Amino acid sequence: MTTVLQIKTSLSDTGNANRLVDAFITQWRARHPEDRILTRNLGRNPIPHLNETAITGFFTPAERRTPEQRAAVELSDELIAELQAADVLVLGVPMYNFGIPSTLKAWIDHVARAGITFKYTENGPVGLVQDKQVFVLAARGGIYSGTPQDTQTAYLRNVLGFLGMTDVSFIYAEGLALGELAKDRAETAALGQISRLIDSRTITTAGKPVDV
Ligand SMILES: Cc1cc2nc3c(=O)[nH]c(=O)nc-3n(C[C@H](O)[C@H](O)[C@H](O)COP(=O)(O)O)c2cc1C
Repeated sequence: MTTVLQIKTSLSDTGNANRLVDAFITQWRARHPEDRILTRNLGRNPIPHLNETAITGFFTPAERRTPEQRAAVELSDELIAELQAADVLVLGVPMYNFGIPSTLKAWIDHVARAGITFKYTENGPVGLVQDKQVFVLAARGGIYSGTPQDTQTAYLRNVLGFLGMTDVSFIYAEGLALGELAKDRAETAALGQISRLIDSRTITTAGKPVDV
């Protein structure tokens, strides 16, 4: 059984990026009804920004943490446990003001933990979140993929790779603000890509190929 973690970050439940995630999960379920789907809706239930309480809590031994530090570390631990439990991560990523949603950045700040999800060695950093397949479903008003304005792709590849997630596929629905025709075309293309990816990918669970 494969565990899929879907992370939604649209401001509205019916946002374009959320709808791409829904389409992905619907198609996934149709092919793998036995799989476990975990959901984190950061748009509906945002997590707090990383703050001093959390960061000092990370570096304080468990038995010496204040109640506030304990609560902050527990949230981070919970998010990391969800991520580590997943074989497949589906990230819905709208473009807001030329970047990723701040809610997603807050999630990344909580799951990037020295000694837990990455470590430094003599040979450089090593990511400890391994054996994941990541699908990034990006929704944008304009068209940026392949240009320097697409800060999302470079940033997400970098930070996910730093944490050990190097198998990352991007699907873009772009030009969603450029009129109905452009929007329809972009959505149809993105949905087609999602179908093809789900149809063609061999999902690897703990090193074992699993037929999809
Ligand atoms: C606050 C806000 C900021 C936005 N900034 C950008 C932007 O910088 N570039 C862009 O192409 N589209 C931008 N858009 C348009 C969104 O990327 C587009 O509507 C996309 O569908 C949003 O995904 P969502 O529907 O899942 O929220 C912005 C939309 C909002 C609400």
